[in-house]
Amino acid sequence: MTRTFDIRAASPADMAGAGSMQHACWMHAYRGLLDDAFLAQLSPEGIAGYHARHFTSSGEHAQPRMPFLVADWPGRANPIAGFVRGGPTRAASAAGDPVPQHVIRNFPFELFAIHVAHDLHRSGVGRALFGAFAKEAKKLGETSLVLWVLTNNAPAIAFYRALGGQPVAESVLTLGGKAYPQTAYAWSDLAPLTCVRNTSPRRRQR
Ligand SMILES: CC(C)(COP(=O)(O)OP(=O)(O)OC[C@H]1O[C@@H](n2cnc3c(N)ncnc32)[C@H](O)[C@@H]1OP(=O)(O)O)[C@@H](O)C(=O)NCCC(=O)NCCS
Repeated sequence: MTRTFDIRAASPADMAGAGSMQHACWMHAYRGLLDDAFLAQLSPEGIAGYHARHFTSSGEHAQPRMPFLVADWPGRANPIAGFVRGGPTRAASAAGDPVPQHVIRNFPFELFAIHVAHDLHRSGVGRALFGAFAKEAKKLGETSLVLWVLTNNAPAIAFYRALGGQPVAESVLTLGGKAYPQTAYAWSDLAPLTCVRNTSPRRRQR
């Protein structure tokens, strides 16, 4: 059987799956990057609740200009194989870490988060999500994109570099009372990103 995924707008019904996927993804990818104590207090339900706040009680997106897409892979125990979310560039992190003014000025649209189920890393799901997000940004009239990544998250940085991202700023991200170095990667042109297919993994699921 050929397994494929589709990328579509997220709905409130996806949030439990997104929380469960992100929690498992973080336990796999962020062990050693973030403090164990911080990771230990995360839960799938807590993450799902955080993402659910982006919808109204009637299931609409609570904020305009904030694309939230999921990779939906029917047949998997958790069909939410990944998600991407973003919107207008934030001026500060949740803990108040300020964003350099030149980043806000030059890159007004931000990718806030992208996560793929850890058993599917290097299967092309992240590239497809990124391309679909760039298309949404373009539809909103945006021409560029920025995101922040932990400076020691080497696999994610390799991913962003492979997609053409360039480092444009350094800052810190405070999580659980500890400050971690982070780097902004940016794209001045969305066009090359919007040509990416959004189905059919390249590789067998591990
Ligand atoms: C970063 C992430 C979203 C990438 O998604 P993915 O589906 O694994 O990436 P893809 O398979 O689409 O990779 C596309 C290209 O990026 C590069 N790449 C991706 N992961 C890489 C890695 N670990 N090492 C080196 N290059 C990598 C490769 O060039 C790859 O193409 P190739 O496989 O044909 O060589 C995913 O690994 C993830 O969820 N990581 C954990 C959470 C995280 O760090 N999120 C980012 C927070 S800022």
